Amino acid sequence: MISRPAPAPLAGGDGGIAGAPRHVAIIMDGNGRWAKARRLPRIAGHRQGVEAVRKVSRAARELGIEVLTLYAFSSENWRRPPAEVSDLMGLLRRFLRNEVEELVREGVRLRVIGDYRALSPDLVEMVEDVVERTRDAEGATLVIALNYGSQREILAAARRVAEAARDGVLNPDTLDEAVFETFLDTHDLPPLDLMIRTSGEQRLSNFLLWQAAYAELLFVDTLWPDFDGATLAAALSSYGMRHRRFGGL
Ligand code: FPP
Repeated sequence: MISRPAPAPLAGGDGGIAGAPRHVAIIMDGNGRWAKARRLPRIAGHRQGVEAVRKVSRAARELGIEVLTLYAFSSENWRRPPAEVSDLMGLLRRFLRNEVEELVREGVRLRVIGDYRALSPDLVEMVEDVVERTRDAEGATLVIALNYGSQREILAAARRVAEAARDGVLNPDTLDEAVFETFLDTHDLPPLDLMIRTSGEQRLSNFLLWQAAYAELLFVDTLWPDFDGATLAAALSSYGMRHRRFGGL
């Protein structure tokens, strides 16, 4: 039988002033517009976007963020022109190759959420290699969402719950939010405290829909390639002043 885990403490503590977030997620948007404003090809924006990933993940560690989750490629991004998809995969390949030593040196654990196994076999191997090499790291966690879609994640979890019930290893009467969460890709991560989207767009685009139930949302106008440690620190200050109530008063 799958037993019910102890209820996780609500992020942010007792529902007062938010303080410092443990888990921050970012929808990195605006690479294309950054490039367009400079009359550059879209790939130039994505390339600069990877620079921002490097800078911001370092800054997040310095600012004491325990988990940073980045939306790098959604399950809907396959609809982009094949050349752009291929460029994005090339950048991911280079990122994994170039960053692995720093992640290991800095004690960062890399986690991937999403159906990354649908990527090309060499990328799957690279992802699994970095995840394996950093598995026992005790510093911060960097989560990259690859071929991720929240509705698909929730459906896959529901399917596994149904299978567990059918096989007699889960009593449907004991299914609650805490048990359901153990079936999600994010099962081993702390609750999401803050979701940031760059570039002025104000939607969640199928990212961490379950996990964002009580997260604070912050939409900033900065295009992702221009986002840096200072913008992140400003976002944390803004979060720190929010009053989190989790449905209470
Ligand atoms: C959105 O900008 C950005 C993406 C779809 C991809 C984000 C990818 C990166 C930052 C680079 C790869 C990441 C890693 C971790 C190696 P957009 O192209 O939709 O911008 P637009 O809305 O201005 O066109």
